[in-house]
Amino acid sequence: MAKTNKTFRPGCLQICCASTVIFLIIVAAVVAVLWFTVFKTKNPDIVLENIRIKFLGEQGIMAVDMVVAIKNPNYGSFKYDNTTSFLHYRGNVIAEFPIQQKLVPARGTLNFSTTGNIMVEKLLTDPNFWNDLFSGSLNFTSKATFDGKICVVKIIKFHGMAFSTCDIFYLHPSRIIKSMCTTKIKL
Ligand SMILES: *[C@@H]1O[C@H](CO)[C@@H](O)[C@H](O)[C@H]1NC(C)=O
Ligand SMILES: *[C@@H]1O[C@H](CO)[C@@H](O)[C@H](O)[C@H]1NC(C)=O
Ligand SMILES: *[C@@H]1O[C@H](CO)[C@@H](O)[C@H](O)[C@H]1NC(C)=O
Repeated sequence: MAKTNKTFRPGCLQICCASTVIFLIIVAAVVAVLWFTVFKTKNPDIVLENIRIKFLGEQGIMAVDMVVAIKNPNYGSFKYDNTTSFLHYRGNVIAEFPIQQKLVPARGTLNFSTTGNIMVEKLLTDPNFWNDLFSGSLNFTSKATFDGKICVVKIIKFHGMAFSTCDIFYLHPSRIIKSMCTTKIKL
């Protein structure tokens, strides 16, 4: 009886000690995770690649497709819901690009393509259109809001939003298309 008691007591102490250590490790891990996610969250980098304009036959449809690359520098993945990117010309929406819900991996890149139809009439009837074109560039802005969840090591999840604005320049007469995006994340 006494023998079992002797071996039992240090065991209890070990368990208490071990659970304290485990608790401290968890606290340290949570602090580290919060530090790398919440307090040091960096803005994702969005790049538009391969922007192509296609004229579809007699219907006068002008389709634009592009590849969107989202680079996530953070230690948390970002899963966003279905959204739409709106292409503006001189303040008016002239095309919509559907964006399907996806997961941007932690410290990784997500690429997807999207296609939208330009509202040609709206573009051509803008009083600035021909002036802008012959002055050398048509300037567009595309805006999208990504609403989603940031997830860290599959346990910690919190709401996050990313606001992206891309300036797109169509140069005339070279037909070169340039773009530049800025993205801001809000927790
Ligand atoms: C997101 O879009 C896809 C394709 O358009 C659709 O199948 C899916 O149901 C949508 N999801 C939600 C939550 O609306
Ligand atoms: C996304 O595109 C970039 C640039 O073109 C490329 O470096 C990267 O490998 C692509 N990533 C995926 C997951 O396709
Ligand atoms: C389009 O953007 C370029 C570069 O920022 C600028 O030089 C040009 O004046 C802009 N054109 C119009 C019509 O706003």
